[in-house]
Amino acid sequence: MSAIDPHKKRLTRISCAEHVVPYLRAEVEAMGHEIQEEDKVSVAIGADLVEALRMTLHLRTAQQVYWLLDRTRCTTMNMLEKWARSLPWEHLIENDAYLSISSNVDHPSVTNSMYPNLLLKDTIVDRITEHTGARPDSGPDRTGVVIHLVWKGDRAWMYLNVNGNRLSDRGYRKLPHHAPMNETLAAAVLMGMGYDGTQALVNPMCGSGTLAIEAALMMAGRAPGLMRSDASALHTMLDVDEEYIAMRKEARKSKPPLDEPMPIIASDHDPMAIDAAKRNAKTAGVDHLIEFEVCDFRDTTIPQLDENEHGHVIFNPEYGIRLGETDELRQTYRDIGFFFKDRCPGYWGHVFTGSRSLSTQIRLVASGRLPYNNGNIPCRLLSYEINSKGPDTSE
Ligand SMILES: C[S@@+](CC[C@H](N)C(=O)[O-])C[C@H]1O[C@@H](n2cnc3c(N)ncnc32)[C@H](O)[C@@H]1O
Repeated sequence: MSAIDPHKKRLTRISCAEHVVPYLRAEVEAMGHEIQEEDKVSVAIGADLVEALRMTLHLRTAQQVYWLLDRTRCTTMNMLEKWARSLPWEHLIENDAYLSISSNVDHPSVTNSMYPNLLLKDTIVDRITEHTGARPDSGPDRTGVVIHLVWKGDRAWMYLNVNGNRLSDRGYRKLPHHAPMNETLAAAVLMGMGYDGTQALVNPMCGSGTLAIEAALMMAGRAPGLMRSDASALHTMLDVDEEYIAMRKEARKSKPPLDEPMPIIASDHDPMAIDAAKRNAKTAGVDHLIEFEVCDFRDTTIPQLDENEHGHVIFNPEYGIRLGETDELRQTYRDIGFFFKDRCPGYWGHVFTGSRSLSTQIRLVASGRLPYNNGNIPCRLLSYEINSKGPDTSE
């Protein structure tokens, strides 16, 4: 790491959840970047720090953005320490900054990732103290400068974590309610459905409203990172604050994909869920785009579509992992199938679930099955094309 120029392109790795790479890749390419590397949970591009910050503002499916500081060959903790000590941290991190370390280590000599994290933290803090006479504070919070180590086999990479807290923490969900879906997962599920902000969306069983709010953000053409303003990169000595302010200003002017928005309807039978969803939507600044209803899913309003209009109905029902699969849940899934057939002709119907056996109760032939992970639970997005008479084949 020689003197760091924030305007020099460096390898920038953007991470996401497993199965989300196709959506992330499409988003990154749409921003004009060429993918240089790709694995199961990330893509990498060449970007300067300002471009990397722009990613944290606009990407809907990314979890973290890492900007490469240095890389080396590394096979022992001693080598790690020596390398970390050689880097000029005093030009990156102020001596009154708050520092935290994260890592992804896969090396036989390391049984607990706490060790490299601690070693790295001590080494960086010691070096800054030696050079400046003052000691930065450090701890687990990602509210200051976050340094990320990747160590795999005999190679190690030192990154600046550009965003700090995970990008899924958009800042609008003050009230999570029960089993909320992670915001970046919700965006990836919408993209997997083929939703792009120009179609009608109905989300019965909306819980705290994540799917409807993410859809409304797309419909409004609103950058998902606009509710965050405290990226880790802004706490470094690399002077990019002015450019960040300018890109936020620019992002606020971005245009919705349609002049006349299509309806978004979110319903739940629990009034507390709708209360939470309404408040979250207001915090996100998209409550004017969503109609909320307290009702059983079977009574949710389905807007009539004109000939050239398209619409999606998305369910994220409970799937009984913890509670056990109950007769009631089996009946719920069966009724979702009836609801699609009877109430949603002309729409695409989708169910996001972690239970294969419950999903067979829907008794419609899925034309799409996409894998996702919800936390560590393997899930699928099942999609059904509901023609005007309704599909009558059973799975
Ligand atoms: C897994 S949660 C949905 C979580 C949501 N995707 C989020 O991000 O917050 C399932 C929701 O279905 C609702 N629900 C369950 N049975 C229902 C029914 N028969 N009618 C309407 N809502 C129902 C629950 O109140 C709960 O909020």
